[in-house]
Amino acid sequence: MKAGAELFSALALFLLMGAVFTQRPRPKKPTRRPPTTRKPSVPQPAVPAQPEPQEPTDFPPRILGPPSMFPDCPLECLCSPSYPNALNCENRNIRVIPVIPSRAHYLYLQNNYISEVTAEPFRNATEIRWVNLANNRIHRIDKNVFEKIPALLYLYVQRNHLKEVPSGLPANLEQLRLGRNRISKIPAGAFSKMGNLTLLDLYHNQLSDSDLGKNTFKDLKSLMQLNLAHNVLKKMPAGVPSTLIQLFLDRNHIDDIPKDYFEGLTHLAFVRLNYNQLSDKGLPKSVFNISTLLDLQLSHNQLASVPFFNSHLEHLHLNHNSIESINGTLLCPYNMQADFNDLSLVPRLRYLRLDGNHLSPPIPVDVIMCFRHLHSIVI
Ligand SMILES: *[C@@H]1O[C@H](CO)[C@@H](O)[C@H](O)[C@H]1NC(C)=O
Ligand SMILES: *[C@@H]1O[C@H](CO)[C@@H](O)[C@H](O)[C@H]1NC(C)=O
Ligand SMILES: *[C@@H]1O[C@H](CO)[C@@H](O)[C@H](O)[C@H]1NC(C)=O
Ligand SMILES: *[C@@H]1O[C@H](CO)[C@@H](O)[C@H](O)[C@H]1NC(C)=O
Repeated sequence: MKAGAELFSALALFLLMGAVFTQRPRPKKPTRRPPTTRKPSVPQPAVPAQPEPQEPTDFPPRILGPPSMFPDCPLECLCSPSYPNALNCENRNIRVIPVIPSRAHYLYLQNNYISEVTAEPFRNATEIRWVNLANNRIHRIDKNVFEKIPALLYLYVQRNHLKEVPSGLPANLEQLRLGRNRISKIPAGAFSKMGNLTLLDLYHNQLSDSDLGKNTFKDLKSLMQLNLAHNVLKKMPAGVPSTLIQLFLDRNHIDDIPKDYFEGLTHLAFVRLNYNQLSDKGLPKSVFNISTLLDLQLSHNQLASVPFFNSHLEHLHLNHNSIESINGTLLCPYNMQADFNDLSLVPRLRYLRLDGNHLSPPIPVDVIMCFRHLHSIVI
């Protein structure tokens, strides 16, 4: 009881002091015209007002940047005088995209909590070349956001919640990263007119064979890198452009490759099909006899024998299959007896992985005799 009374009197004293302090004379305000209508006097509540309720969210509060010398710099962003065309708004707990000033060419918005991309903030941002929206919670990109930004070359939206490929992207785009979303739909014409796109990354989505039409990639006349790894494809994607250099299809459910699939892909150098369901049955005998191919990865499949490959191949990954033997004579792309001294014919294979199969050392002599550039073999 006593302690309670003491606390009460201390509190009373504190309030009294507060009252005294607030009675200090204030600096005189310039005289203003009295307002025409007087506000009705509202009785002051006895309890101090609670702060406004926060929006129901689990997101931490936005992080505001230091004052900027650019008056148009959004509060959440950093605008460096050394890079007047860059807007750094990454890692700042942003939920809504701020108004982008027209001087911005590079826009970094990755690692925030943005859930949709609307046209409003981009109204003046006609010069934008590079937009990084990776690792947000974006489930929607309005159709007309980027349509009117012909300067846009790189659009990174990986690690978000998109369910379909955004439509209305500008024709000049060169790189489009959409990996690690929930995409199971590619609207008709999504990639049409994108004649300059060189990189398309759709890695780790939910695309199945029926989502990829014969014409889906048809207009991508400059495409060099296509990543469709980690989807639910059972078939090789149809109609991939002949300009392709890299084709990544790891972690799908592909169990066969049509005989002439790689015909016409005259630039193809890197093919990855790790973690699929390929067996000898699904591989036509010379399907990988592609003279441009440098790197072929077929690990974690069900192959029982080493597929035939071209003498230009440099790296071959066959680890974790069911291979029981390797016959160098059969695999050798040239005649070891007849052409032994013609070094230009020697196969270029340098690196070979065979671990995780039913093989054990030593490496057969005919393999070593044929593949004389092999300097690393894992068995
Ligand atoms: C766009 O720019 C104009 C002129 O520079 C300016 O008046 C206007 O407020 C800007 N709009 C937005 C949404 O920032
Ligand atoms: C592609 O790039 C070329 C040259 O860089 C350019 O002239 C052209 O306008 C770009 N856009 C399309 C859609 O081809
Ligand atoms: C592999 O392709 C080459 C041309 O690059 C051809 O001469 C050779 O006969 C082919 N080998 C097999 C086994 O298909
Ligand atoms: C490898 O294949 C050749 C040609 O078919 C055959 O003559 C040879 O016996 C095979 N070698 C082994 C070790 O099976």
